[in-house]
Amino acid sequence: MSKNIKRREFLRKGALATLGLSALPGIVGATSFNRLRIPASDKLRVAHIGLGGMGNQHMKWFAELADVDIVALCDVDPDHLNSTMQKLKEMKPDTKAQGYTDFRHILDRKDIDAVTVATPDHWHAQIARLAFQAGKDVYGEKPLSYDVAEGQAMLKDLKKYNRVFQLGTQIHAGENYHRVAELIQSGVIGKVNTVRLWKKGFSPGLGHPAIQTPPPYWDMWLGPAPYTDYFPERCHFTYRYFLDYSGGVFADFWCHIADIVWWSFHPKGLRKITARGEKTDGVADAPKWLDADFEFDNMKVYWTTNPPDVPGAAEREIGAYFEGDKGTLICDYRTRSLTINGETVQDVREVPQTLPRSPGHQQNFVDAVKSRSQPESNLEYAREMTLPMHLALISWRLGRSLQWNPEKEKFINDKEANQLLERRYRSKWDLV
Ligand SMILES: NC(=O)c1ccc[n+]([C@@H]2O[C@H](COP(=O)([O-])OP(=O)(O)OC[C@H]3O[C@@H](n4cnc5c(N)ncnc54)[C@H](O)[C@@H]3O)[C@@H](O)[C@H]2O)c1
Repeated sequence: MSKNIKRREFLRKGALATLGLSALPGIVGATSFNRLRIPASDKLRVAHIGLGGMGNQHMKWFAELADVDIVALCDVDPDHLNSTMQKLKEMKPDTKAQGYTDFRHILDRKDIDAVTVATPDHWHAQIARLAFQAGKDVYGEKPLSYDVAEGQAMLKDLKKYNRVFQLGTQIHAGENYHRVAELIQSGVIGKVNTVRLWKKGFSPGLGHPAIQTPPPYWDMWLGPAPYTDYFPERCHFTYRYFLDYSGGVFADFWCHIADIVWWSFHPKGLRKITARGEKTDGVADAPKWLDADFEFDNMKVYWTTNPPDVPGAAEREIGAYFEGDKGTLICDYRTRSLTINGETVQDVREVPQTLPRSPGHQQNFVDAVKSRSQPESNLEYAREMTLPMHLALISWRLGRSLQWNPEKEKFINDKEANQLLERRYRSKWDLV
């Protein structure tokens, strides 16, 4: 055994011992999902809406599932539609998938069971709600919605129309997060009183581009968002740095790492939100960086752009630092490496399995559709996990701390803040 391996093994055992894990038994209590109780059809008939970076990923993921038939693709931009159709044909030469530039044609089709939505954020909720109303289940991208009111309306419609929804936080299905949730839930670091989340990196300013003639699809791309002049930076991919459509790096990454907190112990009773930040120096108006403090009943959650100043945090681009009354733990979004009581180890495999393993995030959705159950990242869960992100953006926009009533889901005695819980849709694109 090389010196390095010996040292790594020593560190790993040391870290485990500090958590009292070295004596734990192996795999116990693992369960698996109940698949295909009520088959909706032999193959689930799926359509993909929004075919940019993530939508292409959706198409590839679902095309690889044996019990899925991709029957339609849709993008307002015909170039994106054609290029994804071409890729689908390469993967599935016999495909009969139809292409559309208006998702309403997909919702009109009675033979489609489910849609995936990878449009920019400002379209997520409305397409999902219209899909629910049309009797379709939805695999929808994060963030769940553009604002708080949209998340509330989505949940209401999900229940009313008895639909199934999975948020596209695919990391949730991976072994890494299952294991971290099991560690925290096992109580090895005791009662967690503080969590520090971070994501390094700024939202870019995108310079000061000149206004251009918009492409024919610009009005529909904007949809419920306010009409504005066009320059390409407002559209594909970099839309996420404009508040009309999203909320910058913070909104983009919040749920990827907040997921492990809500999964591990679901903080309850959010009372106060204080966000700080800086504007970009360009045309983009999302925060260049944003740090936020969240005061829940009995615990605090912090979001920062720089990692906390503790061993094992600085080298991680995106992570979570849990402080419990018996110990601390840092986990990572991208790797299985953990820092336990200040000692970093590449992996910990000895964690007893108490959570069901996922068959894969997309398969979990397909199984849930067929069995009429809710998948792991279901809408109720996703909405509660996403809500603090919206509230922090409001605190940042107003430049002050905000008091929240978690039961009423309203700010306390703050008309100005409450107005920002909901944006009115452009009437032409208010379709629900
Ligand atoms: N889960 C993840 O890890 C992950 C990763 C990247 C992006 N995302 C999410 O996926 C979504 C899309 O992000 P992206 O980077 O692919 O953006 P993108 O700009 O590359 O793609 C969005 C696509 O949606 C299309 N579109 C816009 N409005 C539409 C409408 N009404 N109907 C049909 N198509 C429409 C656009 O033309 C574009 O092709 C975002 O919400 C983002 O947060 C998730």
